[in-house]
Amino acid sequence: LASATAVIAAAGSGERLGAGGPKTFVEAHGRSLLAWSLVAFKAAEGIEAIVIAGPPREQGRVFEVAERAGVEATVVPGGDHRSQSVANALEAVRTDLVVVHDAARPLVTAELIEQVVARLDRDPDVAGVIAAAPVTDTIKEASVSRRVLRTPERSRMWAVQTPQAFRTAGLRAAIAEHPDDLGIVTDDAQLVERSGGEILIHQASPDNLKVTTPRDLKIAEMLLAERSGT
Ligand code: C5P
Repeated sequence: LASATAVIAAAGSGERLGAGGPKTFVEAHGRSLLAWSLVAFKAAEGIEAIVIAGPPREQGRVFEVAERAGVEATVVPGGDHRSQSVANALEAVRTDLVVVHDAARPLVTAELIEQVVARLDRDPDVAGVIAAAPVTDTIKEASVSRRVLRTPERSRMWAVQTPQAFRTAGLRAAIAEHPDDLGIVTDDAQLVERSGGEILIHQASPDNLKVTTPRDLKIAEMLLAERSGT
């Protein structure tokens, strides 16, 4: 299997979760959100190194979580925006392939990580492979005043997740080309798309949800409990 470095974005403030601290340290079914992701990356074949962009003032705590999860990781301070955190972490990446993941998705599996990396490695023309699930709701695009502008065909809409695998050089170049967009984009693939890179979707389970609100955390705990059979 191709070797890749994991970049874990874990520097968010977690304001919407209201846990009174960084989301990455919030516990779900006995482990912090960050630890769940680390355990999955540790189990994934071909992951050569792990770089974590953590909350700038809590680098020591990130190290502790990694140590307890039995993972050797490089920890770098995150930036003001998610893409800035990813850019910081990319500086420590030494492999040709990189797989970016949000620590807010504790239900990621080793299998999904291996699948996105393997798919990217198979096709030299592809710049990135991203996990996504088909949407079940109808999606409308609206103006700021909430007037509906468009209803895209639902069967072609995907809810995008992480992991997202890229060629390291391509992602670095895309970030360098769009420095002013780092505060606007919500996933890394967007930058690569804008640079003309071809991105493929790899269908993933909707269970690989992102913990944003207290409700998400409840659902994640349920799914983690179910998965570990306890
Ligand atoms: O805020 P949201 O949940 O969309 O963030 C997605 C991921 O990006 C989270 O894992 C969060 O820790 C990370 N993030 C980051 N640096 C920031 C903001 C968010 O690494 N400045």
